[in-house]
Amino acid sequence: MTQPSFAQIDHYIANLLAPADPALTATEQSIIAAGMPVISVTANQGKFLHLLALLCRATRILEIGTLGGYSAIWMARALPEGGKLTTIELEPEYAEVARKNIAMAGLSDKVDILVGKALEVLPQLEAEGAGPFDMIFIDADKPPYVEYFQHALRLSHPGTLIVADNVIREGQVLDTGSTDEKVTGAQRFNNMLAAEDRVTATILQTVGAKEWDGMALAVVKS
Ligand code: SAH
Ligand code: DHB
Ligand code: MG
Repeated sequence: MTQPSFAQIDHYIANLLAPADPALTATEQSIIAAGMPVISVTANQGKFLHLLALLCRATRILEIGTLGGYSAIWMARALPEGGKLTTIELEPEYAEVARKNIAMAGLSDKVDILVGKALEVLPQLEAEGAGPFDMIFIDADKPPYVEYFQHALRLSHPGTLIVADNVIREGQVLDTGSTDEKVTGAQRFNNMLAAEDRVTATILQTVGAKEWDGMALAVVKS
């Protein structure tokens, strides 16, 4: 047979191990219906985040960038009774779509959506003494990823897992002359990560149903 594509294999894996269910399907459909950007993590990436949350034995999860709640649902499903996922979203209309999707998934008691600019909400969380979080997923706008990571560190404990989506951008991170602020944001983030002594980190390339990209994984050291 001809060489299958990354997308075909992604669907093969998803059909086996991350099959859609009514809440996830309705979440994806709600994003399209509302004319929101179709940039949720893929099903397999959602399952991966779910596994990571289980590995962390997470009871407190922080997400920066909610969109329609798709990744939040995958991660919140890994929380035990009494666990909490806090997710930050800039756009009130998106937060409202997410709120409905999270309710449909039966997770309203486990998920708090905070509406506002992450760079304003994160200091408020710190001031309130929120956290420490066991897992933090950074997936909002790309230029301030370094700043998001510095806030994440302040909301962490030794062993916290910090995950950052979209740090490879179809390989454009190699283009040192790039003027795309999503690319330069990722470059700045990856360079910071390499120099940051308080964590140990790697980056996994992500291929499949969506464009070629990468997820950074960083564990806060003792
Ligand atoms: N994590 C989601 C996808 C997030 S897409 C999932 O995989 O299901 C990125 C989201 O970040 C968008 O909803 C966008 O509105 C939001 N965002 C962009 N800039 C932001 C900011 N400054 N503060 C908070 N959220 C922001
Ligand atoms: C974009 C943002 C994302 O979080 C993502 O996963 C894919 C694309 C974007 O803004 O282009
Ligand atoms: Mg993303």
